[in-house]
Amino acid sequence: MDIFRYLVDFDPREMEKEYYDAVIIGSGIAGVYTALEIPGERNIAILTKESIDMSNSVLAQGGIAVSLDKEDSPELHFKDTLYAGAGLCDEESVWVLVNEAAFNIDRLCGFGINFDQKSPGELALSREAAHSKNRIIHAGDTTGKEICDKLISGARAKKNIHIKERTFALDLLTEGNSARGVLAFDESSSAYKLYLSGIVVCATGGYGQLYAGTTNPEVATGDGISLAYRAGAELMDLEFVQFHPTVLYHPENKNFLISEAVRGEGALLRNIRNERFMPRYHELAELAPRDVVARAITREMEKTGADHVYLDITFKDREYLENRFPNIFKTCLDYGIDISRDYIPIAPAEHYCMGGIKTDTYGRTNINGFFACGEAACNGIHGANRLASNSLLEGLVFGHIISREIGRLLAARPGGEASLPAGYSSGRRDRWMDESEVRADIQRTMTEKVGIVRDGKGLAHAREKLERYRTQLGHRRNETVRHFELQNMLLLAGLVTESALEREESRGAHYRRDFEKTDDVRWKRHIVKRR
Ligand code: SIN
Repeated sequence: MDIFRYLVDFDPREMEKEYYDAVIIGSGIAGVYTALEIPGERNIAILTKESIDMSNSVLAQGGIAVSLDKEDSPELHFKDTLYAGAGLCDEESVWVLVNEAAFNIDRLCGFGINFDQKSPGELALSREAAHSKNRIIHAGDTTGKEICDKLISGARAKKNIHIKERTFALDLLTEGNSARGVLAFDESSSAYKLYLSGIVVCATGGYGQLYAGTTNPEVATGDGISLAYRAGAELMDLEFVQFHPTVLYHPENKNFLISEAVRGEGALLRNIRNERFMPRYHELAELAPRDVVARAITREMEKTGADHVYLDITFKDREYLENRFPNIFKTCLDYGIDISRDYIPIAPAEHYCMGGIKTDTYGRTNINGFFACGEAACNGIHGANRLASNSLLEGLVFGHIISREIGRLLAARPGGEASLPAGYSSGRRDRWMDESEVRADIQRTMTEKVGIVRDGKGLAHAREKLERYRTQLGHRRNETVRHFELQNMLLLAGLVTESALEREESRGAHYRRDFEKTDDVRWKRHIVKRR
C-alpha cells in the first residue's frame, strides 16, 4: 500500500511545542494506569481525542479475569486462554498475563475500586464463556466505568500528569528508528501542536468502528494503530476481529452489550422458534468460546430467516437480576424489555480487535521508545480469539510493565530537550467528498465481506472497493477530525482485508467458508504488516 508518511503537512518552526518525559495517547484503562504507574514525578502528557472518560474501557461490563479462588490457578487461566486463542497465543506473553494478574488487581484495589464482594474482604467471582473456573471480578455490570472513574480521579489529582482532552494524535514523530513525540491536532483551537518526547505509549484501543454494528464507542477508529503503521511499526494479527455474541437487537439500539456474565449466570440462547440450539454446536453450549457462539447464532439466524435470536434469563428472580445486572436491567427496561419476564432479542456485533501494534512482553515495538498497550497492541496473548475478561487485565499487566520499563529508560537517559523533527510537505489538495457516505460504505462492506463469515470472493470485492476509495481520497488534504478518522479507517480496513484474504484457513475469529479447516502446517503463524 502506497501511503503518505503523515496525515497533514506541517512546519515545526511555526508550531506550538510542549516537552514531556513521556507522552501517552489514549485514556482507557491501559493509558491512564500506565501514566499512574510510571515511577517518580515524571512529566507526562495523556492525549485523548475526546473527553478523558470516553473510551472502550469505560463501557466494559463483565469484569477482569484473575485466578483468586482456591480451586483456581494461573496455570488453569493460562490453559483456558490458550484454548480460546485457537493455537495462536504467544505462550510467554500469556504466562506474564496470568502470573502478574493478582499483583495488579491488588494495586488496582489501592485506587479504591469497589469490586463486588462475596463476603467482607473476599471478592465475588463470576463465570464467563470458556473459563473453566469462576474467576471474573466485577463491579455490578459497569466494571469498566467504576475502574476508569477511580483511575481518572487519581490521574487528575497528580500534578505531573497533564491531561490534554480533545487532542487528536495524528502521527508519531520519529528520527531514524526512534520516537520523538506526537504531532497532534487541538480540536478547540484547530491548531496543530507538537508534543515532544523520546517516549510515546500508544493506548488508543481498537478499530471497532470499521464495522456497522459494534459495541465500541464512536472514537474507536483505529487512529493509534494507523499512526504506528505510517511511522513504520509492525502490525500483527489484524484479521482476527472478535464479534460479541450477545448485543441487544432493538430498532432503537443495536450496540448495547448484554454481558457474557449473563450467560455465566445460566442464560440460554434460543432461536426465534424458541429452540435452544447451542448444545448442537459445542459441548460447552452457551459457554463455548465467543467465536463459536457468534457463528452458531449467525447460522441459526440464517436458518430461520431472522435477524436476531433470544437470550433467556427469565428463570432468575427479578430482584436478583436488578442487583446483579443493574445497568443491563435498566437499559433493557427502557426499551420495554423486562429481562425477568421477556427474552432479550440479541445478535452478534463487533466487539474487540485481537490484532494491533506488534510488541514484545515489555510492550516494546520495533521503534525505539515507542510502546503499545491494551487493545491497540498485539503481544499475542489473545491469539485468534480473546478469552472473555482478559482485556482489562491486559491493560493493567502490560501497562504496569511498560511503566517500569519507562522508569528504567528515563533513569538511564541524559536530560535535555528532544530534538525538533523535520517538517513535511506532501502537495495534497482539497477535494470534496461525502464523508458520511464513504464511512458508512466502509462499515457496510467490512460487515458484509470481512465480518463473522468470510470468503475469498467477498474479501477480494472488499479490497477492490477500499482500494478505489483510497485512490480517490489518498491525495486529499485532511483538515478535520472526520477527515483524519476516515483516512485511518480506510488504511486499516485495507490492511485487515488483505490479512484476511491472505489467511487461507479458518481459525478462532477468522472463519473462511472457502477454507473451513484449521491448517496448522501452513498457518500456525502470524501475519505481520509493515509499511
Ligand atoms: C462482556 O461483559 O461480555 C464483555 C467482557 C469482555 O469482552 O471481555
